[in-house]
Amino acid sequence: MNWISNASLKDYNTFGIEARAAYFASFDSLESLKELLDSKPEHFPIMILGGGSNMLLVKDVNACVLHHNVKGIEVISENEKEVLVRAGGGEVWHDLVMYSVNRGWGGLENLSLIPGYVGAAPIQNIGAYGVELKDCFVSLDAINIHSKRLHTFNHALCEFGYRDSIFKNGAKGHYVILNVTLRLQKNPRLNLGYGAIQKELENRGIKNPNVKDVSKVVMAIRRSKLPDPMVLGNSGSFFKNPIVSVAMADSIQSKHPDLVRYDLPAATSKLAAGWLIEQAGWKGYREGDAGVHEKQALVLVNHGKASGEDIWNLATKIIEDVHAKFGVRLEPEVNILQ
Ligand code: EPU
Repeated sequence: MNWISNASLKDYNTFGIEARAAYFASFDSLESLKELLDSKPEHFPIMILGGGSNMLLVKDVNACVLHHNVKGIEVISENEKEVLVRAGGGEVWHDLVMYSVNRGWGGLENLSLIPGYVGAAPIQNIGAYGVELKDCFVSLDAINIHSKRLHTFNHALCEFGYRDSIFKNGAKGHYVILNVTLRLQKNPRLNLGYGAIQKELENRGIKNPNVKDVSKVVMAIRRSKLPDPMVLGNSGSFFKNPIVSVAMADSIQSKHPDLVRYDLPAATSKLAAGWLIEQAGWKGYREGDAGVHEKQALVLVNHGKASGEDIWNLATKIIEDVHAKFGVRLEPEVNILQ
């Protein structure tokens, strides 16, 4: 486990962007992580890299990049109703979902096929089809990169929000999430509220779905809308769905009656950013190799040789244009590293 200088990150980010790290190393245990922290080149900050599926490398990274490779999935306790499962932060998220689904345990099926690693899942509280990581999260162990001490974060300490947690705020950049513990259900209560799931189950003639059925349906929906990063570089939803006041949503809807919105508590409304971007005319747009996906306007794509800057320039134009047309400022959901 040694530091490599001037390393390419192309294979470590799902946008497939060619950017280089000043130093790079991979760790597969707490011990190897501590060794690397002790031998780290001076004066460079640490950056932790998981699956690289939620970031845009706008330029070279002047940091010591640590690739998370801590594996392992184990049951730490169970009773007749539930199972507590602990997974290494370097496990592929979807492999953990399959581990759970194959045993008939419920909780993760709606989160099938989300790219990225387990260790990154709590950072942005990953979510899809009416379920978020926080719904089955118990705790995580993380090492503070400055003190090298191990800390356990329970649910409350993580301060989860919509695509948000303490690891995107006060604790940002200070911890490496070594493992995550989740509570899974042996008699699953399925979350089928999302219209697309119901429709796809009906299409398949499934009346009493189990977790495997839901997982398969979710995978089919994702595959139909979201590009496979192995084929077309992308980072999933590039922007968050903006949350605005109900008054603002009403005002937009008075001019655009088909606005897609979900009213939330406290007189706020979540707007579908994909809808706003499509209405502004950007769906399927391409500028060089940077583009907007033709089936889902919330996803920016790299058609081949786009640089991080090309993607970011396009994102900035979209933000400005949506703001000019609807008065709503979109915020990136992916981490912009510039
Ligand atoms: N829409 C459009 N045009 C588009 C895209 C979407 O009009 O180009 C409309 C759709 O018709 C729909 C609404 O927007 O009425 C919502 O679209 P969709 O169900 O595809 O979900 P989303 O809001 O675009 C969010 C998450 C996804 C997650 C899906 C399903 C965010 C930022 N994104 O997308 O998460 O898979 O819901 O739950 O919350 C990710 O985070 O990377 C991600 C893919």
